[in-house]
Parts: sequence; C-alpha cells; structure tokens
Amino acid sequence: MATMPDILIMGGGAIGLAIALELRLRGANVTVVTRDAVEAASQSAAGMLAPQAEKLPPGPLLELCLQSRSLYPAWTQKLEAMTGLPTGYWSCGILAPVYETESAAKDAIASTTPDSPHPTPDSPLPTPAHWLDRPTIHQHQPGLSQSVIGGWWYPQDAQVDNRALTNALWAAVHDAGVEIRAGVTVQKVLHQQSQVIGVQAGEETLQAGHYVLAAGAWSQELLPIPVHPRKGQMLSVRVPTGAIALPLQTVLFGSEIYIVPRQDGRIVIGATSEDVGFVPHNTPAGIQSLLSRAIRLYPALEQFPIQELWWGFRPTTPDELPILGTSPYANLTLATGHHRNGILLIPVTAQLIADRILHQKNDPLLNAFHWSRFKGLP
Ligand code: GLY
Repeated sequence: MATMPDILIMGGGAIGLAIALELRLRGANVTVVTRDAVEAASQSAAGMLAPQAEKLPPGPLLELCLQSRSLYPAWTQKLEAMTGLPTGYWSCGILAPVYETESAAKDAIASTTPDSPHPTPDSPLPTPAHWLDRPTIHQHQPGLSQSVIGGWWYPQDAQVDNRALTNALWAAVHDAGVEIRAGVTVQKVLHQQSQVIGVQAGEETLQAGHYVLAAGAWSQELLPIPVHPRKGQMLSVRVPTGAIALPLQTVLFGSEIYIVPRQDGRIVIGATSEDVGFVPHNTPAGIQSLLSRAIRLYPALEQFPIQELWWGFRPTTPDELPILGTSPYANLTLATGHHRNGILLIPVTAQLIADRILHQKNDPLLNAFHWSRFKGLP
C-alpha cells in the first residue's frame, strides 16, 4: 500500500517544483500533482529577474523581489551542481532606454536622483540604478534606435532561461525522490471544517499531511481565491548565422516591450498583457504590436529570422500581488498569483513556504500577501 506523503503540491510549474525540491531537501516526503506542466506560465515567461526594470514601487513586493533576486546566483548554482543541467542564469544587467517623447518623465526622476537608487529619492534601495545620457547609452549598447535619448541601467537585474530552469527543476525533484504524478487533474479540494482531508483526482482521492496550492492561473478552479489569467503573447528570433558576436549582451526593457537575448543566440521578445481569460493562440494584432515596438527599439531585429511564437497565462490577482502563506485551511498553504514576477520569485517563495510548513516560521514579509485581504470579494 502506498504511504501517504507528508506534503502534496498541486501544480507542476516552476513554483510548485521549487517548493517540492526545497521541502524534499529538508527531509519531507513530497508528491507533486500536475495536469499539464507545459501549460504552466513558467514555460512561457522570458525569465527576466527585473525588480528594478519593472519599476515596482517601494513596498513588500519590491522587498520580496529584491530578496529573491539576491538568492538567484547561489540557488541556480546549487541546482546546476545537483543536476548537471544549465539554468541559463546570466547577470547581464537590464537597460531601460527612454525615447524623446518619454524624456519628461525621465527628467523628473533624473533631476532628483542622478546616478542614484531608483525609483524615488526618499525610498532608496540598496541596489544601484544609473542614468546613462545619449552618448553613453549608445556606446553601452550599439544599435539602439536614434530616438533613444538615454536610459536607466540596472546592473543587478539579471535573467534566467526559464525553460532550462524548469527542466533542471524537473530533474532535481525526480533525482531527489519527489513523486511526480503528471497528467493527473485535481478536480476538487475536499475539506471538513478547517482541515483539508484530501484532493479528488478522477476516481482517486489523494491524501497528505499538508497541501500546497501552486496551480498558477488555474488556482481559482480549486479554491475561491481571485487569481485570474492575464495572457501574454511572445515570440523569439535568432541572431543570424555568421554573426561573429552576440549583438545584444544585456536585456532591453522598453515601453511595453522587452528584448531578452540568450547566450545561445536566441532572442525572446515579449509580451502582451491581455485580459481575455484562457483564450489560446497568438493573434496578428498581438504579434504585430510586439514586433513594431521591438524593431523601433532595436532596428536590426527586423532582419532576424523568426524562430517561435507562443503565449502563456500569468496568474494575476486584483492587486497584482501574490497570495502566499496561510489559507482558510490549517493544513493548506498558498503559493500563487505571482503575476509578472513568477520566475523572479521562485527561490524566495520556495524558502518562505518551506520555512512555514516545516518550521512554523512565518516571515513577517508574508503578511502583505495574505489571502484574507480579498475577503468580501466574490
Ligand atoms: N515578467 C514580464 C511579464 O510578465 O511580461
């Protein structure tokens, strides 16, 4: 007879897998149940580790994101050592060019914070941001549009190859002895008063001592928490064969566009942000808007061969903050709603959720992400 796991995780995206790995490495018996790992937002992201380029306002989310960004180098190194697989972590920095038309906004910031922490002078961050003027930015990154009049340079923002990372996480959880139930759909969380007593998956009822909901944009199918899909369309191009060096050595983060060069010559371009529910497919309008913004920012892209088009669903809450930690049920923990920062928040989410489940340690930072802030919502 199969023994009951200590912890059952609903969701086989990168967040669910990273929590599983952290719990397993701390000695727990863990099962991951996943309907379709390919659907997860972690497959479709760009992998930017960009709390500064995303211009998150000072507050708990920025704090959480900065903490996670600082965990990334050691965390990916450990994962690579465990599995022998690459994660594509690259401390390439992120450049946020500004056009003439946006210069008023830049002036407001630059006049108060020349070469200083971003985003406001009264809430300095322990992380640098540098304003580059026109000659400096064009020297820093040749090939930018001539309409770029300067930009912010965030040297500590970085990137990871989210697909490589997810592969490495799969291998790591498998090798560590996590049971993975792939292709299994959880239909219902069964509870009695404030305890989860199992989850229904087809004919089966799966049971564990503790449960984690990490089902991303699909979380609302299992619990009445307001997590909705926010669709993002993306595409990739390749540096043409014969190029002597990679033309882009840093992420470009422009107005409603980002261009993320990988070290293997792939260049990821994203992303739309659409409130259309779970409507699949790329659309001509979505791809056209991405291409025109990307080519405007970095004109040479117009000749690069297109490699792939895809889309994904960000898990988004009404206030665009994640839902982390306790739930209405004593033995169920929530790790969902990561919106635009899911890949960035993987290591810190895994750490804080494992601390909570195994050591009853509730980091005060989790208070801002408590599910009960949505009480009263339908
Ligand atoms: N992290 C960027 C995005 O969600 O588009």
